[in-house]
Amino acid sequence: MKKILNINKKIKSFNKNIFVEGDKSLSIRWVLISSLSKKKSVAYNLLKSEDVMSSINCIKSLGSKVKFKNNKCEIIGNGFNIKKKGIISINAGNSGTLGRIILGLLINSKNKIKLIGDKSLSKRDFSRVIKPLKKFGAKFNTKKNLPLIMRGIKNPKPIKYFETRGSAQCKTSIMFAALKSKGTTEIKARKSRNHTELLFKHLKIPIRIKKNKNFDIIKIKGIKKINPLNYKVPGDISSCAFFLVLTILSDNSQLLIQNVNINPSRIGIISILKKMGAFIKLKNSKIYKGEKIADIFVKSSKNLKSINCPKEWNSSAIDEFLIIFLVAAKSKGISYFKNIGELNQKESPRLIWASKILNLIGVKNIMTKSSLKIYGNPNLVLNKKIIIKNFLKDHRIFMMSTIAALTLGGNWKISDADSINTSFPKFLKILRELNR
Ligand code: S3P
Repeated sequence: MKKILNINKKIKSFNKNIFVEGDKSLSIRWVLISSLSKKKSVAYNLLKSEDVMSSINCIKSLGSKVKFKNNKCEIIGNGFNIKKKGIISINAGNSGTLGRIILGLLINSKNKIKLIGDKSLSKRDFSRVIKPLKKFGAKFNTKKNLPLIMRGIKNPKPIKYFETRGSAQCKTSIMFAALKSKGTTEIKARKSRNHTELLFKHLKIPIRIKKNKNFDIIKIKGIKKINPLNYKVPGDISSCAFFLVLTILSDNSQLLIQNVNINPSRIGIISILKKMGAFIKLKNSKIYKGEKIADIFVKSSKNLKSINCPKEWNSSAIDEFLIIFLVAAKSKGISYFKNIGELNQKESPRLIWASKILNLIGVKNIMTKSSLKIYGNPNLVLNKKIIIKNFLKDHRIFMMSTIAALTLGGNWKISDADSINTSFPKFLKILRELNR
């Protein structure tokens, strides 16, 4: 379906309280971890998006039982072993997280596993998980891309591995494989989101973590069975990000976004926007099963200034750069983002797309393979026609373009509105409520 969104008016001022949908990283992890327990796990507010539904369909193909009605999802897993015979085909759809993590979980599968995905996922790099999983003893028919076939190993050997990219997907894939190995796996991992570590701790899985400045040393002992996991999924900061920027760049507006996961490894966007002069305050902070949660209050912010973004913040803002670039476009001065080549490894080549969109809206920028300089213009107002299409249905390109249209003006035609179903199906519904 090619649903085109037309926007030719800025959003009206608003003052509201909203919730965004459940966190995608936590939702996918919950589904996969629950599939390992033979007892019933229950989650509330699980994100009902295509990536999470793909996760559910994958674990069903592997033998788990799932009931997902309204706000409640129940999973009864099949333990550590798959009872099916023959080759099992699983489809990760658009989700890099699912595709990469589930391979770790299947390290000891007796069955050959065929992993497929959509057009975008089939272009993405799987060598980053193939390499460590081969060390455990798995065999693959390919070096890099989907479709792939993995042949697991009955008794995976624990490994020592240096994860150099700061990829939480890669780290988590290894952590899952470690659970099924006899002995201790040691991962030296560049900093990245740590949801899996927190869930493992909560589940009392033997895990030890030593934190250094740039990387963590994670030691995990294999186990034979795992407890069920009941969970209430907090809101996704990556979805919240679009509303933070919408509010900051709108006139006379304010918003309270309630119950958002503010795990320190995810809130680079808050540090970056605050440094650029945005008004953001955290309220009612609490800890839930190891994760930090808060309400986020944000107001229209004038006099935004450019940023020379510290590269140490990159991993905690990795999914938010597109929308951060929009703030840079409206700020005074030249913003500089470096070591962000990973953006081209996402659902679309996002760094290239960011530069394209900035060109379309008349904002000077200089892009290299791994950096972007944005020459901000606080007086940026548009009154021309802008067409955004053929972006590999990347949900975040769609949402960033929508926020640009609602805050900068102009006459926009943005393709593939259904791309939001990947991570944030209620995105347009919430926007309409704000604009009433
Ligand atoms: C994710 C990790 C990040 C992020 C992705 C979700 C996760 O990817 O971009 O949207 O849930 O582990 P990398 O681990 O590849 O950086």
